Amino acid sequence: MMHTAACIFDLDGVIVDTARYHFLAWKRLTDMIGIHFTEEDNERLKGVSRMASLEIILEIGGRKIEESQKHEYAELKNKWYVDYISKMTPDEILPGCLEFIKELKGANVRVAIGSASKNTPLILERVGILELFDAIADGNNVKKAKPDPEVFIKAAEMVGIEPGRCTVFEDAVAGIQAALNAGMLCVGVGSPVILKKAHFVIRGLDDMSLSKLIEIEKGIRI
Ligand code: BG6
Ligand code: MG
Repeated sequence: MMHTAACIFDLDGVIVDTARYHFLAWKRLTDMIGIHFTEEDNERLKGVSRMASLEIILEIGGRKIEESQKHEYAELKNKWYVDYISKMTPDEILPGCLEFIKELKGANVRVAIGSASKNTPLILERVGILELFDAIADGNNVKKAKPDPEVFIKAAEMVGIEPGRCTVFEDAVAGIQAALNAGMLCVGVGSPVILKKAHFVIRGLDDMSLSKLIEIEKGIRI
């Protein structure tokens, strides 16, 4: 018997690999304003909101600037990012994602998105899976950033399932913490070294199935 009644998926890094596009857009901005920004620095931005990402970048560059200038930079970065994601196609959905979601739906498990990104609807539409989800909690209908649990609690409310019967799939440390704060079962997607706080870690959704989720549930005895 399955305990999970809803699965909540982070978007960037779990369903699609948009970290690359975020990096390219931030890189264009940092080149323009003369801040040295590397792919390693980009790791710190995973799961972090747009403005908080900019704050981290300014801190790396040792810059202090006016609020109005911050908004101008964030808008510029987003314009370049939107140029990239507007060209996304369905073949950019990460391996195993569609198969697993179809399996969940077949078992009457609700599926939702829990993402910090304000570009969530555009990305889902571009890769052709906007209609697949029962609910979308994202940067447009949530105020507090991960590790605050708000985005996952909101997704649970939208699908009408109590948090204790939700499982979250996350690739960011802040997202794992948000899922734990929400009282949900949390499956990390990525490196077990980085995501050590998750209840269980998989390398990608191609490493996941309904039967494996049931095994994970048994392992942590919920
Ligand atoms: C998260 C990404 O999903 O969304 C972050 O991991 C990003 O890197 C954040 O900054 C906000 O995205 P957006 O599209 O609203 O700028
Ligand atoms: Mg992510």
